[in-house]
Amino acid sequence: MVPEAKNFDPVPNSERPEGALFDAGVKEYSAEGRYYYDIGFQPSENHVLAAYRITPQEGVSAAEAAAAVAAESSFATWTTVWSDYMVEAERYCARTYDIKPVPGRDDQFIAYIAYPLDLFEEGSLPNLMSSLVGNVFGFKPLRALRLEDVYFPPALLKTFQGPPHGIQVERDRLNKYGRPLLGGTMKPKLGLSAKNYGRLVYEALRGGLDFTKDDENITSQPFMRWRDRAEFVMEAVHKAEAETGERKGHYLNVTAGDMEEMYRRAELAKELGSRIIMVDFLVVGFTAFASLSKWCRANGILLHAHRAMHSVIDRQPNHGIHWRVLAKWVRIVGADHLHNGTVVGKLEGDRLSTIGINQMLRADYGRTSECPGYHFNQPWLSMPGVFPVASGGIHVWHMPELVSIFGDDSVLQFGGGTVGHPWGSAAGATANRVALEAVIQARNEGRDLLAEGPDILKEAARHSPELRAAMETWKGVSFDYETVDKPVILNP
Ligand code: 3PG
Ligand code: 3PG
Ligand code: MG
Repeated sequence: MVPEAKNFDPVPNSERPEGALFDAGVKEYSAEGRYYYDIGFQPSENHVLAAYRITPQEGVSAAEAAAAVAAESSFATWTTVWSDYMVEAERYCARTYDIKPVPGRDDQFIAYIAYPLDLFEEGSLPNLMSSLVGNVFGFKPLRALRLEDVYFPPALLKTFQGPPHGIQVERDRLNKYGRPLLGGTMKPKLGLSAKNYGRLVYEALRGGLDFTKDDENITSQPFMRWRDRAEFVMEAVHKAEAETGERKGHYLNVTAGDMEEMYRRAELAKELGSRIIMVDFLVVGFTAFASLSKWCRANGILLHAHRAMHSVIDRQPNHGIHWRVLAKWVRIVGADHLHNGTVVGKLEGDRLSTIGINQMLRADYGRTSECPGYHFNQPWLSMPGVFPVASGGIHVWHMPELVSIFGDDSVLQFGGGTVGHPWGSAAGATANRVALEAVIQARNEGRDLLAEGPDILKEAARHSPELRAAMETWKGVSFDYETVDKPVILNP
């Protein structure tokens, strides 16, 4: 049965031009009788919610801009169509149910939009993205548009796998507790031969790191093919484990030009005894990432997610997708580790946002009061937590601040800050391990890491020549630039 047309008042038959089946033409999205602008609507427990930062073009009202976003990101197009009358608009349209000004910006506002559950396929992030971050981002009446936050209702959340293993399983497998895990990216990024690369991995692991890792842009180039690297690297991991008596790992980057090759690389890593692999989740896309995540759960391999390309999407405050949304999507689709900046290192990262995302990645229940800049509370149900990873331009002097920003359930990764040690990578790794353990001990004794950080390091360096040399090398090296993307705090 064709449902009754409810989306707007049809013109009475008597007033229609001859032959017209319905009230054709372009209507305001926010027109009364349509649902796209429905302030005061109460979303049910089954709605997907989105908070958009909208900058309308001059002359476009907030109501029309918000309604246009709701319409284009759900089922409408620019003109009414006769088949609108075959769809139950009330059931399938997205509705703007609230708007709030952006503090200090009279050209922007936040629109809250509710999407009925039926609009989305179960377990498919790409399907959700094609609506929420699809055509609508190029809409002419908008000068800019940014997806600031998303809420997943339990009914939809439970259709996603989530992290292949999660924090607790990883700690149990590594038999490491009570401190952040310590990693290091091998450098230089490109050009090393497989044998030299394996040596770097061995030195860093025997020196005290828990993990070493491939860089995001190393895959299977002519100077070092994937299989060669994997073989030398795994030999190094096994040797370092035998010598130190600790469990260790190297994230072999399985990112490839097609899915078949990603699986091939993942299988080879498993065959060689690797505990963990990595992927550049954004450049391979969410479908490939989801497939790999499922493979990792089925095969008992941990998955490290590098966020190469994220700044193209998330760095500009007015347009794109906020990093907190991409990070939520990563937890849902499923990684065990996710890069989340450092605040103090070489890459952009606001302190409050970074702390909020760290909390969100690990929480059972994400509360806006604990995650600054978030717009929605998010129950995570039984989904395991993700280790946030600090990486990018950090060195030993940053350790106290990193521990205070990232907490225990995190991975701290020093690339240049390991391999750049004047005595080589083993000494660089030892310096970081001594610093980390000294900072954790001080924290456990109740000392204030931010105020006393340098003193804690200096005390530890009295017994560690490696740490002393590292502190001398990177003394005063900092990356002090203004943050481009500061969080919008609506209700401080
Ligand atoms: C598309 O996918 O190309 C658009 O949805 C086009 O739809 P429109 O012609 O109705 O704008
Ligand atoms: C990474 O991929 O995490 C970075 O390459 C880290 O390298 P850095 O510590 O030398 O900045
Ligand atoms: Mg890198």
